[in-house]
Order: sequence, then C-alpha cells, then structure tokens
Amino acid sequence: MFFRNSLSLFPIILLATALTSIVNVEGHRLSARQNKVDASERLLQGNAQWAASTKKDNTTFFQTSAKGQDPKVLWYGCADSREPESVITNSIPGDIFVHRNIANQVPPEDANSVSVLEYAIKHLKVEHVIIAGHTNCGGANASLSAALAGSSASQTLSDEPSAGALNKWLEPLTEFALSQKSQLSAKSNSDALTVLVEENVKKQVENVSNSEAIQAAWQAETNGTGRAVRVHGWVYDLSTGLIRDLNVTRGPN
Ligand SMILES: *[C@@H]1O[C@H](CO)[C@@H](O)[C@H](O)[C@H]1NC(C)=O
Ligand SMILES: *[C@@H]1O[C@H](CO)[C@@H](O)[C@H](O)[C@H]1NC(C)=O
Ligand SMILES: *[C@@H]1O[C@H](CO)[C@@H](O)[C@H](O)[C@H]1NC(C)=O
Ligand SMILES: *[C@@H]1O[C@H](CO)[C@@H](O)[C@H](O)[C@H]1NC(C)=O
Ligand SMILES: *[C@@H]1O[C@H](CO)[C@@H](O)[C@H](O)[C@H]1NC(C)=O
Repeated sequence: MFFRNSLSLFPIILLATALTSIVNVEGHRLSARQNKVDASERLLQGNAQWAASTKKDNTTFFQTSAKGQDPKVLWYGCADSREPESVITNSIPGDIFVHRNIANQVPPEDANSVSVLEYAIKHLKVEHVIIAGHTNCGGANASLSAALAGSSASQTLSDEPSAGALNKWLEPLTEFALSQKSQLSAKSNSDALTVLVEENVKKQVENVSNSEAIQAAWQAETNGTGRAVRVHGWVYDLSTGLIRDLNVTRGPN
C-alpha cells in the first residue's frame, strides 16, 4: 500500500516543491520585468483553479484519491505535448497508469518502460494495456529519414553523438524502419510516416505481448486463476482529435 501511494504522489510532491521554489525566486523577478505570465507560473495558476473546481464538484475527490489507485488501464504514449492521454480520452486522475516516451516504445531491455508494465500487471492488476502512437510523430519521422537515407541504426540523428541518449533511444525504431525499408521507400514521405507510426504500434503490441508479465497474466487467465488482460494498438490523429483502433488487440489466443 505504501508503494502504491508513494509511487503516485512522490514525483508530484517533488515537482510541486521544485516549481514553487523556482516561481518564488524567478517568477517575481520575471513578472516585474515583463508583464506576461511565465509558462511555469501559468501551470501553477491553472493547477490552483483546477484543484478548487474539482473539489467544488466533488468534495471527497482528493481525500479518496489520496488513499490509493485502482486504474484499469495502462497507457504507453508518446512524450509529444499534443497527446495528453487523460485529456484526449476524457479521463480523470486515477483512471490511467501512464508511461510516455519518445515514439511510445517498450524496448524489452529498457527497465524504465518494462518496470511500469510489471507493476501495472502484477500489482495494480490493470485489464488493458494500450500502445498509443500518433500521426506526425517526430521520433518516428527521424527514424524514417535515417532509414531512407541509409544511415546506420545507431546514428539516427546525424547532429547527435551516436552514444548519446537520443540516438540510443531511437536505435531500435530505426532498426525496425530499416527492416521495413522496401515498403516505406515506395511511398510519399507523409504516407511512409503514417505506415511507420502504425507498424511501430503493432510491433510494440507484439513485444509487450511477449513480455514475461503479459505471458504470466495470460496463463493465469487461461487456467482460471486470473483476470482477462488485453493489449491494444491505437493511433491518435492530431488533425482530427480522434483515436483509430488498429484492431490488433491481443489476448491469450
Ligand atoms: C468523488 O470522487 C471519488 C474519487 O474519484 C469517487 O470515488 C466518488 O465516486 C466521487 N463522488 C461523486 C459524487 O462523484
Ligand atoms: C519529417 O522529416 C522530413 C525531413 O526528413 C521533414 O521534411 C518533414 O517535415 C518531417 N515531418 C514531420 C511530421 O516531422
Ligand atoms: C521488439 O523486441 C525485440 C526483442 O524481442 C527487439 O530486438 C526489438 O528491438 C523490439 N522492437 C522494437 C521496435 O522496439
Ligand atoms: C495458473 O497460471 C499461473 C501463471 O502462470 C500460475 O502461477 C499458477 O500456478 C497456475 N495455476 C494453476 C491452478 O494451474
Ligand atoms: C477497426 O474495427 C472497427 C470496427 O469494426 C472499424 O470501424 C475500423 O475501421 C477498424 N480499423 C481499422 C484500422 O481497420
């Protein structure tokens, strides 16, 4: 129980503390100099308004929320600012356990994204895992460009060190794009990007389905000792605001 609560609250407390001190020092200096609201200050103001109106609508919301979480869904999304999962699905705090990174990847050797999966499946007992890519993904586009230009997978971004974090993170996606090169090079750039975004989502669905956590959950589902768990692949369309189900949902069979 302690872990459940602290996992969700600790980063928020840290972030709030850090932001408050930055704004106390910097915010006053900035606002004295320029008469417009700093982006970080706007977040704190927005937060105060949101907390007040949420509490007005439901006086016990935060008290109940602080006691623990019981989400039914794990969402893997892109770090892109235009894909905020709770906003675009009309959800509220407590509904979705989330991991977001560049190009919504779950590399099997990445302890960060895989630990989120293990915690969500084994401890929170979520029922759905959703891999949600989005159109016009900058990360997928970088891998696509590198693959079409014939770059090596470890040098997706030519202006970044090959051992740097960005190139290391994009390497599996570029490798994947290279494996799809004949399909991708036959299309216009924008169609090829749409295809890579979709194929990346499908590949992540497959990789997540092969994980130890999901395989164990499906064994338990099959032998009647566990709940049903499904893995879905979706793409969010930035130009319409609508999510497209790729219909690649995986279960035990
Ligand atoms: C208030 O919020 C809590 C926590 O999400 C929820 O359990 C409860 O049902 C809500 N009450 C109402 C009246 O909506
Ligand atoms: C993708 O990269 C190409 C350059 O390789 C660029 O012209 C295009 O604007 C990029 N598209 C997106 C959506 O980032
Ligand atoms: C999928 O998993 C395999 C290992 O099982 C890994 O080599 C590959 O990079 C992963 N693909 C993607 C696109 O993350
Ligand atoms: C059912 O499968 C789970 C997951 O592999 C396993 O831990 C459990 O022992 C199995 N139970 C039975 C009754 O076979
Ligand atoms: C997925 O299935 C739904 C319902 O049958 C359908 O409307 C939709 O077009 C399908 N999506 C794709 C990408 O084929």
